[in-house]
Amino acid sequence: MAVFLKRFLAPECVFIFGIESGIEADDAMQARAAPRARVRWRPMRILYVLGTRPNFVKTAPVIGALRERHPEGCHVIVHTGQHYDRLMSEVFLEELGVPAPDYMLEVGSGSHAAQTAKTMERLEPVLADERPDLVMAPGDVNSTLAAALTAVKMGIPVAHVESGLRSFDMTMPEEVNRIVADRFSEWLFLHSPEAVTNLRHEGIPDERMHMVGNTMIDTLVALEDRFRAAGTAARLDVEPRSYALVTLHRPALVDGPLLGETVAQLAALAQQMPVVFPVHPRTRKMMEGLEPDAPGLHLVEPLGYLDFLSLLADSRAVLTDSGGIQEETTYLGIPCFTLRDNTERPVTLTSGTNTLLGLDPSAIARIPALLQERPGAPPPPPPLWDGQAAQRIADVILG
Ligand code: UD1
Repeated sequence: MAVFLKRFLAPECVFIFGIESGIEADDAMQARAAPRARVRWRPMRILYVLGTRPNFVKTAPVIGALRERHPEGCHVIVHTGQHYDRLMSEVFLEELGVPAPDYMLEVGSGSHAAQTAKTMERLEPVLADERPDLVMAPGDVNSTLAAALTAVKMGIPVAHVESGLRSFDMTMPEEVNRIVADRFSEWLFLHSPEAVTNLRHEGIPDERMHMVGNTMIDTLVALEDRFRAAGTAARLDVEPRSYALVTLHRPALVDGPLLGETVAQLAALAQQMPVVFPVHPRTRKMMEGLEPDAPGLHLVEPLGYLDFLSLLADSRAVLTDSGGIQEETTYLGIPCFTLRDNTERPVTLTSGTNTLLGLDPSAIARIPALLQERPGAPPPPPPLWDGQAAQRIADVILG
């Protein structure tokens, strides 16, 4: 029979050690000292650090699964404020059913150093007050880096969701963020086989790795009935299966001279098929003065997640430099063209529908021909991209 020892740490929280030794209650004190009793530790205070649009998507199912399966625990949500526009933040949290954050750090935009430092400075007192047993940080953004560094320096274990991805391109801020988050995390949650190889090369022991699957796909699966019914293409006056959906926001593409040529190429593509381009605020800022008057090129505000998935699922093709969209198109079997030289998600090339075009706007002109060459049926999604990844994370954490 399992015996539980409870110790009150904070008014609303308890520490629970489940002793799985088959012993009787009277023996509890002896069991504490008995070397062979296996003590199962459950984190009672879990603190989730979110900050950007993709990370809300990756973390929502994890918060849901852990809250449901561990109701006696305390679940604290911190929003760093790295993304702060309503369309980049609140709308997502509402649609994903994420509870209102307990803390809003309101960090906002800034240089990498300023944004990371401000996040660390504002997160530290929260961790000191909350004393979490575990900090959970997803993805590869500056908020992830700041969360991992702050927690590890305070001796708090970190769990990293979406661990082990590598582009091997240190000019990408995300690559630096991933390496640091993985190096300092105790629990590494992986979603693709190459992540194991990458982490082993960096000397990370296998015991810290857990192949759980893709939590972003959990969210997509959970929302599928709703986004399939949303009919967003009709609202934007484009025919399902006729248009290219575009998202571009990486500094390498939008912060320099390539953006002008990219916009010109999109205008040319729009003469062959409608192009729908929800423009990220960073890109919008850089596009000032570049917006062409091209019929068929629909530049729209950033979309909520249901509208975006609806447009994605109904598109003929996708052109992107996003990581998550390479995965979502792989799951949905939509042809994806990635305007980058590399991808940290090679599984989307080998087991998915993704094609790397290179960081070369002129390659956009090849999309119509490449679409003609595509084989008929898309491959099945990679293993464990099945809507159950967050449950597997809960299995690992709760034991
Ligand atoms: C960040 C992540 C990137 C991720 C992307 C998803 C880093 C280094 N980058 O890039 O990995 O793919 O989020 O969207 O963490 N802005 C607004 N409103 C907002 C947010 C941003 O206007 O709500 C504008 C500001 O001008 C800001 C710029 O966008 O300076 C860039 O924002 P930032 O969070 O630094 O990086 P992202 O490009 O969004």
